[in-house]
Amino acid sequence: MQLIVTSPPYNIGKEYEKHLALPEYIFQQQMVIRECVRALSATGSICWQVGNYVDNGEIVPLDIALYPIFQELNVRLRNRIVWHFEHGLHCSKRFSGRYETILWFTKTDQYVFNLDPVRVPQKYPGKKYFKGEKAGQYSCNPLGKNPGDLWQIPNVKCNHVEKTEHPCQFPVELIERLVLAMTHEGDWVFDPFLGAGTSIVAAVRHDRKGAGAEINGDYIAIASKRIDSALDGTLKTRPMARPIYNPKEAGTSLTTAPWNIPSVSYADLDCPHEQLVLFERTTQYAQKEGK
Ligand SMILES: C[S@@+](CC[C@H](N)C(=O)[O-])C[C@H]1O[C@@H](n2cnc3c(N)ncnc32)[C@H](O)[C@@H]1O
Repeated sequence: MQLIVTSPPYNIGKEYEKHLALPEYIFQQQMVIRECVRALSATGSICWQVGNYVDNGEIVPLDIALYPIFQELNVRLRNRIVWHFEHGLHCSKRFSGRYETILWFTKTDQYVFNLDPVRVPQKYPGKKYFKGEKAGQYSCNPLGKNPGDLWQIPNVKCNHVEKTEHPCQFPVELIERLVLAMTHEGDWVFDPFLGAGTSIVAAVRHDRKGAGAEINGDYIAIASKRIDSALDGTLKTRPMARPIYNPKEAGTSLTTAPWNIPSVSYADLDCPHEQLVLFERTTQYAQKEGK
């Protein structure tokens, strides 16, 4: 296998897992990780994507808990990627969790890493050298910049185009970036906890081969269907290069709190009828709430 990428159960009582004592969970993970490292090619990568195990309000970051297993197997940590997303549970007794991590290890120092296919747009593409031999020439790489190790990618919640019945899918674009950077065309990608099949979808979309393991028959059915659609080019996914949705820029009226609308005389307003109706409703609401 050239790339083994997965998001294992987090032992937090999701419908697909049995809640285990932490040492037992870690032991089970160790068994799987050991086999994955054995099956990895010499130039290959292993990416373990995890969040927190929560016990009675106390969190255990699973990357910290699992890191010693990888260390013992002599794989080398290349990045601890922070995946930041906007949506999730709202906590009342701690700050709401809005990131998870991906531990990226390689089996050896001779590993595949293709940066060009995963570059992202430069912040200042027009910037030039201002002194020295190259003065006046553009200073940045026109192919884009290194995406860094903090990735802001929307997680798959109910109105995401990729949402299936599976409760916690990877966004395809998250795995596409790993596939493009860590494999070549024709290479194998394996996911030992396949869920809705996202890792294989990301692999076949880029002419790689995919394989996986999953214990739940319903998820296998979802995965097969998605893989077939990915192969025939009909699967809808969020494109890799799409910027994060900005509701203010999109002009969504919901970004204005009704209680913050200043009181203005209607005669001063030069608005279409629909906007006046909306304004009237929010003003009435604010008055009713005593704002
Ligand atoms: C966090 S989800 C993975 C979701 C996946 N990344 C996706 O994009 O859909 C973990 C998956 O592991 C599966 N699973 C749990 N125990 C397993 C086992 N012993 N062998 C294989 N799969 C297992 C669960 O059914 C669940 O679908």
